[in-house]
Amino acid sequence: MANMVTSRDVSQTVAQGALVRVEHVTRTIATRAQKTTILDDVTFAVPASSLFAINGPSGSGKSTLLNVLTGIDRPTSGRVIFDGTEIRGRGENQLARWRGEHVGIVFQFFQLVPTLTASEIVELALELGGNRRFAGGKRRARAIECLTLVGLADLAHRLPSQLSGGQQQRVAIARALANDPPAIVADEPTGNLDSHTATQVFDLLAELPRQGKTVIYVTHDPRLAGRASAGITLLDGHIVSQSGDAGAEVRGK
Ligand SMILES: Nc1ncnc2c1ncn2[C@@H]1O[C@H](COP(=O)(O)OP(=O)(O)OP(=O)(O)O)[C@@H](O)[C@H]1O
Ligand SMILES: [Mg+2]
Repeated sequence: MANMVTSRDVSQTVAQGALVRVEHVTRTIATRAQKTTILDDVTFAVPASSLFAINGPSGSGKSTLLNVLTGIDRPTSGRVIFDGTEIRGRGENQLARWRGEHVGIVFQFFQLVPTLTASEIVELALELGGNRRFAGGKRRARAIECLTLVGLADLAHRLPSQLSGGQQQRVAIARALANDPPAIVADEPTGNLDSHTATQVFDLLAELPRQGKTVIYVTHDPRLAGRASAGITLLDGHIVSQSGDAGAEVRGK
């Protein structure tokens, strides 16, 4: 019960505007020979409870942008405001804790610990997340709850090697949801799945905005990109188009 109240509070506090605001973010990489600009003055807003797509060709800066959004990478200049607070300025440990509470990440290659069962994988995320709501003895029940959400309660005892690709990615989604973060960030989450399985896995992510969560995703699949409620398209580190409310908060300022 306690979970449900908190989830609702989160969706109410952010419902009015953007969950994430990216302001004039530039990311350059300097080697001795040259300076490469990977993101160039990128400004947009991710509406709360949206299904937000980041589109663009290979090398356009999509993964770099997701890394900046989750604090894995730092912008060279500009800032990212997440739920009203700037991400920058935290130490690595603080940042890891912040990430655990605020974003669940789903990777293209699942990234599941091979020696842990599905349930243990979700429980580990709960342990690392440090959310007091899911402390100690509550972790197993919360893990099963998350695996039930993705239709895997019956397979909770299996190792990743005993699961299909689609099932492994569903475990990764359960893990991303474990700490009840307001946002899920997914970099080509269906990139390694056949088209039928990709749709099934994506349906799970597409469902989340209805529960107040914001889903930010990258995909090369035009069918899945087309299901976004808002989004941006990058080309060579620039935003070349925006859809939905991706610019609303920025224009309003
Ligand atoms: N650490 C790095 N050092 C130098 N260049 C980098 C680094 N990381 C990324 N790049 C370059 O920045 C550009 C953007 O990379 P990024 O991985 O963000 O692209 P992407 O849009 O995610 O591409 P893909 O669709 O292939 O995953 C690429 O040209 C890449 O080579
Ligand atoms: Mg990428």
